[in-house]
Amino acid sequence: MALLPILCYPDPKLHTVAAPVAAVDARIRTLVSDMLETMYEAKGIGLAATQVNVHERLIVIDVSEQRDAPLVLINPELLWTSEQTHLNEEGCLSVPGIYDGVMRHDAVKVQALDGNGQRRLIETDGLLAVCIQHEMDHLLGKVFVEYLSPLKRNRIKTKMLKAQREARS
Ligand code: NI
Repeated sequence: MALLPILCYPDPKLHTVAAPVAAVDARIRTLVSDMLETMYEAKGIGLAATQVNVHERLIVIDVSEQRDAPLVLINPELLWTSEQTHLNEEGCLSVPGIYDGVMRHDAVKVQALDGNGQRRLIETDGLLAVCIQHEMDHLLGKVFVEYLSPLKRNRIKTKMLKAQREARS
């Protein structure tokens, strides 16, 4: 088990499009356990491999209160999204301290492999549906701040770069 460094916006590597996982093997199982450890340590509810600079289609999520219900989605595919959408207040481990509203589908149906390489069908709504949409965006190289206005996004970019400069000095 190891904690992995999380890329911070506006790192251009966050815009890399992830490739499918070829096989759920020992390397992937190690990555899954390291990503779960990293997500729990950072007190996040989801983490995409993109955020730890691994550009393969893999997501870990835990939206449970007790932080004891890890969900692993490998090569996730959206099969269906509800027409109904709502504005959801979101944050991201790659954009620390920033929260803003994003329109998301209320419900989704997703097919993916789990951590054992077994095919799973997940039909869900609420926080889990939002989290899946947010994390799947990461695999396409998209960070939630890209849904905001250019003005807001530029302010966030400036704030992040300043914080990163201060952290280094
Ligand atoms: Ni995120």
